[in-house]
Amino acid sequence: MADIFDFECCLSDEARRRAAPGTMVSASGAPDDIVADLLVGQPANEALPLDYMVEAARNALPENYPALLYGRRKGSLELIDVVREKLRVFEGLEVDRDQIVITNGSGQAIDMVLRTFVNRDQLIALDHASFGALFVRRVSDHGAHVAWDAQGPKPEALDELFATQQPAIFYTIPTFQNPMGNTITRERRLEVLEICHRHGVPVFEDDAYYELHYDGDRPASMYELDGGSGLVTRAGTFSKILGAGIRLGWILTAAPLTDRILPLKTDGGTSPFASALASEFMREHMEEQIARLQDIYRERRDIMLAALDAQVGDLATWKRPNGGFFVWLTLRRPELLNDVMQRCEQSRVLVRSGSVFRVDGDGLGAIRLAFSHAPHDEIRTGVRVLGESIRASIAANP
Ligand SMILES: Cc1ncc(COP(=O)(O)O)c(C=O)c1O
Repeated sequence: MADIFDFECCLSDEARRRAAPGTMVSASGAPDDIVADLLVGQPANEALPLDYMVEAARNALPENYPALLYGRRKGSLELIDVVREKLRVFEGLEVDRDQIVITNGSGQAIDMVLRTFVNRDQLIALDHASFGALFVRRVSDHGAHVAWDAQGPKPEALDELFATQQPAIFYTIPTFQNPMGNTITRERRLEVLEICHRHGVPVFEDDAYYELHYDGDRPASMYELDGGSGLVTRAGTFSKILGAGIRLGWILTAAPLTDRILPLKTDGGTSPFASALASEFMREHMEEQIARLQDIYRERRDIMLAALDAQVGDLATWKRPNGGFFVWLTLRRPELLNDVMQRCEQSRVLVRSGSVFRVDGDGLGAIRLAFSHAPHDEIRTGVRVLGESIRASIAANP
């Protein structure tokens, strides 16, 4: 075998700045001896419409030469029309084709939008705990989390941060938030928009879970409430509807702004092949698939909540999420977070520490539990082990 080339000394500043490769274990890549996988927010196997995708391929591919050629930079027109149709059916929202850009999952959308608005030395404002922390670290050296109350980001906190530090953008996940599971109320959305307009701070609305609504309120999106002024850029994804492996998402914003975002897209056109399959599937099965997902995940959420009541009780607090994939658990003894995490790991139960969702690495004494992927019994087992781990940690640290 050849000697390993010493590439470390050749790395760019950007590559050096990046964190060491993550230790995220995906469900599919999890070792065999995992007892319960409550780690990654991804679909349940039975939610993945593989049979329908075979049918979609049979219908969509014959004679479809463009499906295997380079695609349009803004993405497949037929998929753009599918996104428009979804917005019309589920939200009564009418948008034009030139307001949408198809992306390689919403991950690419997040990256492109942040790079459009943010220089490395500029601040990004974020929710109290946010999936966005993973992206912010790549784009900027500065992130600031905005505290939430029961309605959403606290207006005084937002106002003060904007007045004193003028962030380049406010990145928020207002609906079925990842990791916190909660939703910004309509009134608070309007207040947040007013503050952002007043300070001239654009909003990035990451709406990955909008479709996965199980009960209770789901307010109109920030994009819709703002009336499409260009203040709010919204991203969505097919990862939660169809499966993350399809790698398709979209950006919705004011048409002129799409022209400023597009130069950051260097992918030869988001997979025309995947887009053809997804379009065919969505045209035939969109409403049925989303209704099915809502039933599957509502049941899993309820199983997790019942298990938490029985196994964790007053050792932690949590709220019932009305949608999405996650329950956010705050320990009564927040200082035990690392110890509890270690005990879960030793018992081969995978859960996510709150520290991943903060740019400052503060775990907030919280743990994110994904109920989306694990089968019912695995959810129950995982929560039982979590309860035992918390109890053991308290006993060891009286
Ligand atoms: C809030 C949020 N945004 C974006 C994504 C990225 O999804 P994808 O790149 O698969 O579309 C996720 C995935 O878990 C998410 O939870």
